[in-house]
Amino acid sequence: MATRKIIVASSKGGVGKSTVALGVAGALCTLGKKVLLCDLDFENPCLDLYMGIEDAALFNVADVAKGRATPEKAILKNSAGLSFLASPEGVVPGGTGENDISEAELAKALTDAVSSAEYDFAIFDTGTAHGIPALLADTFRGATALIVASHQSSSSRGAERTAAMFEAHGIRECRLVVCGYEFIEAARNERRGIVDIIDSSRVPLIGAVPYDRTLMLSCERGVKVPEGSDAAEAFLNIAHRLCGRTVRLFDGINSVKRRKII
Ligand SMILES: Nc1ncnc2c1ncn2[C@@H]1O[C@H](COP(=O)(O)OP(=O)(O)OP(=O)(O)O)[C@@H](O)[C@H]1O
Ligand SMILES: [Mg+2]
Repeated sequence: MATRKIIVASSKGGVGKSTVALGVAGALCTLGKKVLLCDLDFENPCLDLYMGIEDAALFNVADVAKGRATPEKAILKNSAGLSFLASPEGVVPGGTGENDISEAELAKALTDAVSSAEYDFAIFDTGTAHGIPALLADTFRGATALIVASHQSSSSRGAERTAAMFEAHGIRECRLVVCGYEFIEAARNERRGIVDIIDSSRVPLIGAVPYDRTLMLSCERGVKVPEGSDAAEAFLNIAHRLCGRTVRLFDGINSVKRRKII
């Protein structure tokens, strides 16, 4: 079976891309899928920290690109069975420095990593620099893009721009993930509600991850988000939808009654 590729992106920083990439990857693992998670934020890699395995990654995607390690050697497994390929710091894809790698080398390393085992899903976390989302779109033609936005109007505008970029690079399926959603503030009209966020980004929604302090603390401590927490349920809902199931928008999310939200 072909590996489904998921590119997590947004042109705005700090909206929750890495958190969503890791949360969705972990949820797909929970559903029994074999998942490869690749950190492709060359400026601010953080997934190793969020997973609590910062000392474990001896090799990274640049080592694979330069032939210093095979994908099998570079890919690690965390305690939940999630396979992980780390990003180097200070390497510029397409740059001319001594340590840099070409875009063609990066594309080949990623293709090799994805085909190194029978993964059901390959999930790519991206940063806001170096045009990595476009490179991924060109490399993996049938990929799905998960575009992350928050309450902030600038993030909706960024999501719209990101979707247009993906479309120009041949990606047909772009889906919006709203991250850090504050139910109470939205219900009080203090912050934009989910409908406004979808409307202004013009990207169809695949899920919303509530603001959940336990999620932030889990990332900080490098541990898995607690089962049954609002964030864990939201990631499971997204994972189910990626697997083609129909799940209600806020299924399993306890913090607020659904009818107050929209
Ligand atoms: N739903 C959420 N609830 C609470 N905290 C969250 C949530 N989503 C993300 N965060 C926190 O927000 C911060 C930024 O998240 P994250 O690193 O995922 O953003 P990013 O978009 O990947 O940033 P960058 O652009 O730097 O790559 C982190 O501290 C993370 O724990
Ligand atoms: Mg990030």
